[in-house]
Amino acid sequence: MCGIIGCVGRGDETLDTLVHGLSKLEYRGYDSAGVAMADDSIDICKASGEISDLKTALESARLSGSVGIGHTRWSTHGPPTDGNAHPHQDCHGDVAVVHNGIIENYQTLRDELVAAGHTFTSDTDTEVIPHLIEDELDAGRDPENAVRAALARLEGSYAAAVVVAGTEAVFAARNDSPLVLGLTEDATFLASDVPAFRDFTDQVVYLADGEFARLESAGWTVTDLDGNLVEKEVDTVQWDPEETGKSGYDHFMLKEIHEQPRALRQCLRGRVDEMAGTVDIEDLADLSPSGVQFVACGTSYHAALYGAQLFRDAGIPAQAFLASEYATAVPPIGEALVVGVTQSGETADTLSALRAARKRGARTMAVTNVVGSTAARECDHAFYIRAGPEIGVAATKTFSSQLTALNLLALGMTNTQEAREVITALRELPGNVQRILDESNAEEVAETYEHSDAYFFIGRGYQFPVALEGALKMKEITYKHAEGFASGELKHGPLALVTQNTPVFAVVTGDGEQARKTLGNVKEVEARDAPVVAITDGQSEVERYADHVLELPETHPRAAAVLANTHLQLVSYHVASLLGRNIDKPRNLAKSVTVE
Ligand code: F6R
Repeated sequence: MCGIIGCVGRGDETLDTLVHGLSKLEYRGYDSAGVAMADDSIDICKASGEISDLKTALESARLSGSVGIGHTRWSTHGPPTDGNAHPHQDCHGDVAVVHNGIIENYQTLRDELVAAGHTFTSDTDTEVIPHLIEDELDAGRDPENAVRAALARLEGSYAAAVVVAGTEAVFAARNDSPLVLGLTEDATFLASDVPAFRDFTDQVVYLADGEFARLESAGWTVTDLDGNLVEKEVDTVQWDPEETGKSGYDHFMLKEIHEQPRALRQCLRGRVDEMAGTVDIEDLADLSPSGVQFVACGTSYHAALYGAQLFRDAGIPAQAFLASEYATAVPPIGEALVVGVTQSGETADTLSALRAARKRGARTMAVTNVVGSTAARECDHAFYIRAGPEIGVAATKTFSSQLTALNLLALGMTNTQEAREVITALRELPGNVQRILDESNAEEVAETYEHSDAYFFIGRGYQFPVALEGALKMKEITYKHAEGFASGELKHGPLALVTQNTPVFAVVTGDGEQARKTLGNVKEVEARDAPVVAITDGQSEVERYADHVLELPETHPRAAAVLANTHLQLVSYHVASLLGRNIDKPRNLAKSVTVE
């Protein structure tokens, strides 16, 4: 959600560095983009649309300077117009600001500034910042202290970067929105996320809330908002720059779907002992919670539903909550562990829920993909899913890795009779996902149902979250109506929607009670002439009632969920591709949603 970048020390290559960084951050928003370059004056170029539109605008703009900031926007205040694109400036044009987040008191500040004679040119909340800085400069403060004083007046969430004419530095600060510094010997970067500068360095410093950074080519300092020096640790990023490229795939989403076998291997590496039938994860053994509450959003919420079932199956009370609802009526927590499932570790709703739990004395854990993310730092425990960078806005490999990591968590914290069986299924998972990637007939299914009115997905037990996720993926990237249901719920209302033109995707695994019941639900659908696509391991009779079959190998139902989801990812991808959708950047969406 909005990506920001800043850079000092790249000389003539500053502008190219900023634009390159923005293209790596575009998954965070693609409504508009802009850059500001500073030396004795400030030059700005911005455009509504994607980074490609900014590049076109830059062809006729003459920008110079060796210090710069840039922004790619996901609109919150004001429509995605050129005028609302960042950077924003003060009245004199001596200050430029990019910002990610929401300034809650912006109307009060704006009214006050307008009354004092400031003129505003956009509808954004951000524009109050350069005007506040202007006032502080006019009052005689030096640039650093002017920025500090202006930021101190903001309420809400922000990651902001500022340049001031005549000052060879970038100033930046964060409160509730991510910011990370990148360090080399002669240049310093800042960005919302590491991919923006990973091509130049693997040395990073994560800013915490309330911290203020001054970046110069010769170095950097981090202070608190009062100016006291803060000692920061320099971390080394553990993934390679190539991982943020498309590697020959048409879309990041397809590349990331195909990266799943590797991602799952990474998730499992060093954590399971198949011979002993145990999971070996330091710290987990000491955690034996009396209950678990999961908080998460979107795809991660579907993983959380799956996670809650894992713990319930092990006899531990567990529930998944939508993070955005959790804080409005926090449930009794008792001795439960509160687990935030968040691939980015920066989702505002999830962070709020975790903070609400902590306020009530709960122990918290982040299950996340991003080392050093806010969730990882704020929680008592962090458990990494190790999926590697995910650029496509629609989550794919992070979901599979979340499911796998949650299995490890549950096995590590509980005693499950099925442990050995589950571990074997997990060990086989990367190979089985690869088989599906190699053999799936998802494209043929997509071609058959490309023009359907709507798509329904049903599943039971561990396959219920898969049904929800199958529908979410379909909606997100095809813009078609799709819904996921617990199989048993279909007859309680949604069945009224089922027609000849609404394929029903049914995930049916095994030959037990659950398969038998879901088979009954499939018959109800088939009797109403809806096409049925069965995602099945062939152990039930569902194939007899299906128009298409997406085959699964026989495995434990927990692993089957990951495999079924792989087929469904491919179906959605191919429908979106046939419809010519913007697959990696679906309309209105962005990754890493840092506002509530
Ligand atoms: C959908 C998707 C979103 C995220 C949600 C939470 O494909 O990616 O639904 O799952 O915004 O994000 P994280 O996991 O970063 O907290």
